[in-house]
Amino acid sequence: MSPVSSRADDQDVIDYRQHIMKTMNEEAAAIAQILQQKIPAADFATHAEILAITAATAKKAFEPKVPGGEAKPVLWANWKDFSKRLDDLTAATADLARKAKEGGMAAAAPRVQSALTCDSCHDIYREKKD
Ligand code: HEC
Repeated sequence: MSPVSSRADDQDVIDYRQHIMKTMNEEAAAIAQILQQKIPAADFATHAEILAITAATAKKAFEPKVPGGEAKPVLWANWKDFSKRLDDLTAATADLARKAKEGGMAAAAPRVQSALTCDSCHDIYREKKD
């Protein structure tokens, strides 16, 4: 394989994990709109489920351990901690989705903040470039 095509592969890996993050961001934004009562709550459980399903794809997307994008180098050195955080996000969002499906807004809304551990991970592992 030529160096050129291997660089392209790396860019694909980075693009892919960024797509996953962006999808989670859109779903979290939709959930926030619902909690602020700016839009109807009818699809709250669906958004929680999409968020949970997307979170479950994140670990594999980082597993090739390709440096770059906004990933701080310390991420790869602390892989055990980083991947555990993704496992925890997956579990917490799955629980949120289940609560939303079974108990609706009343059951799930109070758990949204603690389930969305996005910022605490970004503070350590993401170099925000924009
Ligand atoms: C375990 C750590 C971790 C968690 C948890 C996490 N992220 Fe990220 N996120 C990252 C890293 C690392 C990057 C940089 C990825 C890159 O550029 O290669 C990132 C990048 C992003 C980006 C920028 C994507 C782009 O276009 O470059 C957004 C938006 C984002 N995350 C949203 C979220 C949201 C929303 C959540 C919570 C639902 C979340 N993240 C949870 C680690 C995490």
